[in-house]
Amino acid sequence: MSEGLVNSIYLGAAIMFILALSGLSSNENARRGNLYGMLGMGLAIIATVFSDAVTNYWVILICMTLGSVLGLILARRVKMTQMPQLVAILHSLVGLAAMSVGYATYLDPEIHLLGAEKTIHDIEVYLGIYIGGMTFSGSVIAFGKLSAMINSRPVLLPARHLLNLIMLFVVVYYGFEFVNAENLSDATIPLIVLTVIALVFGVHMVIAIGGADMPVVISMLNSYSGWAAAATGFMLSNDLLIVTGALVGSSGAILSYIMCTAMNRNFFSVIAGGFGKPDVTSSGSTAVAGEAVATSIEEVAQLLSSAKKVMIVPGYGMAMAQAQRAVSDVSRILMGKGVNVIFGIHPVAGRMPGHMNVLLAEAKVPYDVVFEMDEVNDDFPNVDVTLVIGANDTVNPAALDDPGSPISGMPVLEVWKSKMTVVLKRSMATGYAGVDNPLFYKDNTRMLFGDAKSNMDDLVKVLG
Ligand code: TAP
Repeated sequence: MSEGLVNSIYLGAAIMFILALSGLSSNENARRGNLYGMLGMGLAIIATVFSDAVTNYWVILICMTLGSVLGLILARRVKMTQMPQLVAILHSLVGLAAMSVGYATYLDPEIHLLGAEKTIHDIEVYLGIYIGGMTFSGSVIAFGKLSAMINSRPVLLPARHLLNLIMLFVVVYYGFEFVNAENLSDATIPLIVLTVIALVFGVHMVIAIGGADMPVVISMLNSYSGWAAAATGFMLSNDLLIVTGALVGSSGAILSYIMCTAMNRNFFSVIAGGFGKPDVTSSGSTAVAGEAVATSIEEVAQLLSSAKKVMIVPGYGMAMAQAQRAVSDVSRILMGKGVNVIFGIHPVAGRMPGHMNVLLAEAKVPYDVVFEMDEVNDDFPNVDVTLVIGANDTVNPAALDDPGSPISGMPVLEVWKSKMTVVLKRSMATGYAGVDNPLFYKDNTRMLFGDAKSNMDDLVKVLG
C-alpha cells in the first residue's frame, strides 16, 4: 500500500476516533460513538498491516490471533463490576508497549541518526520509556487495589514529596547523560536508572492515593496511557498513534479534572498523594452513635405506595447485586401508580465513571428521569422517600460534617434531608473508602438488610 493511501486511511481513522469521543459524550449517542471507534480501529489496523513498515505477516497474524482470542475470552468473562480492573490492566499494557518500543527503536541497528535528528529521537525514546514505565507499574498497582488484592488504604512513605523530587532530578540528570551518550555502553546506565525510577515512581504515585480518590487515579492513568501511546507514535513516526494518543491523553486529563471538581479535590493534591491534607488512615474522627432501625419489605412497599415523590439513589451495591432490572421494574410500577420517581446519580457512584448510568440504561430506565447529583441535591426536602440501593460513601453525611473524615469535602447526595430514607444493603459494613456512615443511625433512616436484587424482586411482587 502506498504511503499516501496509508496516510489517507489514517486521516479517516483519526476522524472516526474524534466522532467516537463526541458520540460517547451522551447516553443517546454512545452506541453510535462506539461503532465509530470500532470502525476507526479497523481502518487503522488495515492501513498499518498493509503498510511498508510490515514485512513479516506471520508474526502479525500470530499476534493478532492470540490477542483477539484473549480479548474475546476476557470480554465474555469479565463482569460489569470488574470493568475498572480490566481497564487498569489494559492501561498497563499500553505502558509496557511504550517501554518495549522505546528499547526496540533505540537498539534498532538500522536506525542511524546524526545531529539534531539523533537528539530528538533520543528524547522521544527517553520520554517514551519514562511515561510507559510509570503507566505500566501504576496501572498494575491500580489493578491490585481495585480488585482488592492490595489494601486500598493510602501508603504514605515519610518524606514522600522529597523522594519524588529527588527521583525527578535523577531522571533529568540521566536524561542529559543519555542524550549525550556516544554509544550503547554509555547509554546503558542512564537507561537502566530511568527504567527503575519510572517503575518505582508509578508504584509510589498510586499506593499513596487513598481508596476514595481512586476514581481520579483511573482517569489519570487513562490519560498517561494516551501520552504513552503518543510517545510510541513519535518513536515509530506513526501520525495516527500520535493523534490518537493525544486524544486519549487530553480527554483523560479533562475527565480527571472533572472528577476532581466533582469530588472537591485539588488535582495536584491527588497526584501528589494526599498532599497538604491530614494523613488519611483513620475511618473518621467522629464516633458514630445511635442505633440503626431495620425495616421490612411490607413496610417499604407501604411507604412507597403512599409517597408522592420518590428518589432512587443507586451505588456499587446495585451493580454487585445486578439489581438494576428489578430497580427499573419497581420504578415503573410506582410511576404507574402516579408516583413521581426520579434517580439521583453521584459522579463517582460505583467503580468507574458513568457506571450507574450504563446499568440503568441497560435496564431501560428512561434517560429523562435520571439526574446528576447537582441537579437534584436541593430537591431532597421535597422527597417523601429516598431509596438508597447499595450506595454508601456517596451518601455519607460525614463528608460534610466531619473534617477528620477521609472523604471530608467530597460532595455527597444529601439523602438524609428527605422525609424518609430507606437504605438497602446486606450489613452495617463500610463502603469502598472504609468510612463509617452516620446516615444509617438517623431518625428518618430505615435499613432494609439483604441482597439488593432479592429485596427489589420481593418489592416488585408486593407492589405489583
Ligand atoms: P460504596 O461506598 O463502595 O458502597 C457500596 C455498598 O454496597 C457497600 O457498603 C455494601 O454494603 C453494599 N453492597 C455490596 N453488595 C451488595 C449487595 N449484593 N446487595 C446490597 N448491597 C450491597 O459505593 P458507592 O456509594 O457507589 O461509592 C463508590 C465508592 O467507590 C466511592 O468511595 C468512590 O470514590 C469509590 N470508587 C469509585 C470509582 C468510580 S470512577 N466511580 C472508582 C474507584 C473507586 P454491604 O457489604 O453491607 O452489603
